[in-house]
Amino acid sequence: MPDALLDRIAAAADLQELDSVRVALLGKSGEITAKLKSLGAMDPDARAAEAPKIHAEREAVTNAIAERKAALEAAELERRLATETIDLSLPATESVNGSVHPVSQVMDELAEIFADLGFSVAEGPEIETQWYNFTALNMPENHPARAMQDTFYLQPRTPDEEPRVLRTHTSPVQIRSMQEHGAPIYAIAPGRVYRSDSDATHTPMFHQVEGLVIDKGIHLGHLKWTLETFLKAFFEREDIVLRLRPSYFPFTEPSVEVDVGFAVVSGPDGKSRRVLGGSGDAPGHGWMELLGSGMVNRKVIEFGGLDPDEWQGFAFGIGVDRLAMLKYGMDDLRAFFDGDQRWLSHYGFSALDVPTLSAGVGTPA
Ligand code: PHE
Repeated sequence: MPDALLDRIAAAADLQELDSVRVALLGKSGEITAKLKSLGAMDPDARAAEAPKIHAEREAVTNAIAERKAALEAAELERRLATETIDLSLPATESVNGSVHPVSQVMDELAEIFADLGFSVAEGPEIETQWYNFTALNMPENHPARAMQDTFYLQPRTPDEEPRVLRTHTSPVQIRSMQEHGAPIYAIAPGRVYRSDSDATHTPMFHQVEGLVIDKGIHLGHLKWTLETFLKAFFEREDIVLRLRPSYFPFTEPSVEVDVGFAVVSGPDGKSRRVLGGSGDAPGHGWMELLGSGMVNRKVIEFGGLDPDEWQGFAFGIGVDRLAMLKYGMDDLRAFFDGDQRWLSHYGFSALDVPTLSAGVGTPA
């Protein structure tokens, strides 16, 4: 074995040089490769004599390269350990964290509370046919209630296409749920709704959550208990008091508007605020309207494909943005949809936060 070869390997000053030596010796047209190839042209005796030497040489070269490589790598590591330093006093590069929008947070809280009560989450399209948005909810064409919920109408693409609107409420999901799942139903349907309205407390797009129960023997008492249990859990207060007021919706009969009692409390800044809790009739208290509800109208149950003599139920609809404002203290609805980073980081939630309501509403005594 010629030492010259081993000297060349030992002389390689760095990994790159070592690799060129490797290619020159063991590569496709390397010196040792050429010797291996030459074996084929020898007569058997010569080959038997030469082959062991050439193979031994190749092995020695391969080992020497591996050793040199390990030595060079170790030296390189030593050099880096000796010269590189980490400056722990440098400020860390800031990473921008997004936050969960209060509307998403409240929708999660709603889903969580109602899941504890046995409700599932249903969905429907935001571009809805007028039939689902109005007709099937007992608002026939030319019914004045259609004008009360004035919305955005879509131009039909063909003369015979069903007329469509941006849904004005989540109530069409009532019909879709009955048609899709039949009865019984215990569901909520949160989502975006649209009306042509715009001021400090109204935006053309806002959020509602619909509640729907269809079962046998359902009455107003079930509605009241469900709303009371939900609102106590949501606002995390045992002293929530409801007042049910007769009202009118075409899709419920009877219809009830639900008010919740609040106290006027003056804060450290001298400004007075309305804090939910207590009877609205108590001194220094008042009632605020919170949601619309009622027993599902027989006609609506029929439109949903069910027999109203067999199935009854209740429904309610609440503004999700309004729930967020009442719980977390924002005072201008428009800010919800401005996308101002300062507002979002102030009112937003961490995605990893455990929702405050995770203990649930049904913890056994
Ligand atoms: N859909 C009604 C609204 O948007 C609210 C409502 C829902 C009332 C369900 C009764 C029952 O005003």
